[in-house]
Amino acid sequence: MNDPLAVIILAAGKGTRMKSDLHKVLHPIAGRPMLLHLIDSLDRAGATRRVVVVGASGEQVERAVAATGVEIAWQREQLGTAHAALQAKDALSGFEGIAIVCFGDTPLLATDTVARLAARLQAPDTPAVAVLGFRPADARAYGRVVADADGTIRKMVEYKDASADERAVDLCNSGVTAVRTRDLWRLLESVGNANAAGEYYLPDVVTLAIAEGGKAVCIETGEDEVAGINSRGELAAVEAGWQAARRAQAMADGATLIAPDTVWFAHDTRIGRDVMIAPNVVFGPGVSVADGATIHAFSHIEGASIGPQAEVGPYARLRPGAVLGTASKVGNFVEVKKATLGEGAKVNHLSYIGDAEVGAKANIGAGTITCNYDGFFKYKTSIGAGAFIGSNSALVAPVSVGDGAIVAAGSVLTKDVEAGALALVRPPQVAKSGWATQFRAVMRAKKDK
Ligand code: UD1
Ligand code: MG
Repeated sequence: MNDPLAVIILAAGKGTRMKSDLHKVLHPIAGRPMLLHLIDSLDRAGATRRVVVVGASGEQVERAVAATGVEIAWQREQLGTAHAALQAKDALSGFEGIAIVCFGDTPLLATDTVARLAARLQAPDTPAVAVLGFRPADARAYGRVVADADGTIRKMVEYKDASADERAVDLCNSGVTAVRTRDLWRLLESVGNANAAGEYYLPDVVTLAIAEGGKAVCIETGEDEVAGINSRGELAAVEAGWQAARRAQAMADGATLIAPDTVWFAHDTRIGRDVMIAPNVVFGPGVSVADGATIHAFSHIEGASIGPQAEVGPYARLRPGAVLGTASKVGNFVEVKKATLGEGAKVNHLSYIGDAEVGAKANIGAGTITCNYDGFFKYKTSIGAGAFIGSNSALVAPVSVGDGAIVAAGSVLTKDVEAGALALVRPPQVAKSGWATQFRAVMRAKKDK
């Protein structure tokens, strides 16, 4: 591909069928707004200029894409897809090359497909327009592409305007359309709205290009890639498709998923080789799992880094900033937040470890809580290498326990503990011989009177 590539992403529609205050293109797939999936894919295809056309609730979109540096064009009135694409003209003034128009609600468009479409436009037969088509199992109300067997397009027709014969055509328009900018603006400006919807249709650029004596061609892709999202049901269906592909990828990369359909990945989950993931594990954003780690069932993990050979769960919750060292263990009903566990450290049962640093091989007993918050500020707990924290201890931060120290079970620690020391913070045990036996005898006698 030699010509520079620009993309125009249409996202000005109201998305009424979502019934949402959140703009349609910002609803997440795998924990990330669908529009950002699309922008990422287009960037990887080598797009040097990116324009998102926004209308209703456009400020939401503007905010969400601010970090990506895409340009924003406004379509104040939603008069149709051709009119929307034309709104990008000013933003792209001075740009000469290929423009690919695509839809913000069709987020899984693959990088390869974009490159294939751009390449088709530059093939020796020099078509004026290249359209991405697909053959869905149910063609519903998609626009139809009437084309020869070699992909030469004869006509594009919207479902509302199509004859019975045209509706019987199974080749559908995905909406993704490639045109050189030297043709695009002229064609878009010539599009009229004398049709069933009274809208300016983007597919009409094909008809106009053919009328000018140009050639229009269609290349095809799979249905999953270009399924549009117009409702919550379709959102869930696209999410399901994304998850299925990601699970297959994780397994292809050498992870074992015992029940793949029950594991949920985020857009950026990184999984190493020989990782074992048990059923019902959910990954939120920002997780990496190193080689040989095991995630047991029913664990919920986000913003965490899991080291090689580490073990997590069952029923563990790792929150942002959890960093688990090599061969460390976080067991059942343990929550870890913004805490580092050294190599071989263990927190096996019923604990909260937050804002903490735990040294190598330290052992945190069942029910240990780091009391990190006083209602106003957060404080840190540090636990040295090889330290042993007895069960049911409360470590009131800021506090530190030195290397190799032992904290007795049931302690409420408010002062630092030296390395190698024993800290025992609990009332001494009182034993009264025979007291219980006597007590029962007295009480029974009273009751029997
Ligand atoms: C469109 C295509 C249809 C194709 C289908 C694929 C047209 C006329 N029809 O139909 O051929 O089969 O997509 O999914 O292009 N938008 C704007 N401004 C507008 C209107 C729409 O920005 O004035 C945006 C929407 O936000 C959306 C995209 O364009 O992202 C497509 O609009 P939509 O109304 O969903 O078109 P469809 O009826 O699905
Ligand atoms: Mg649509």
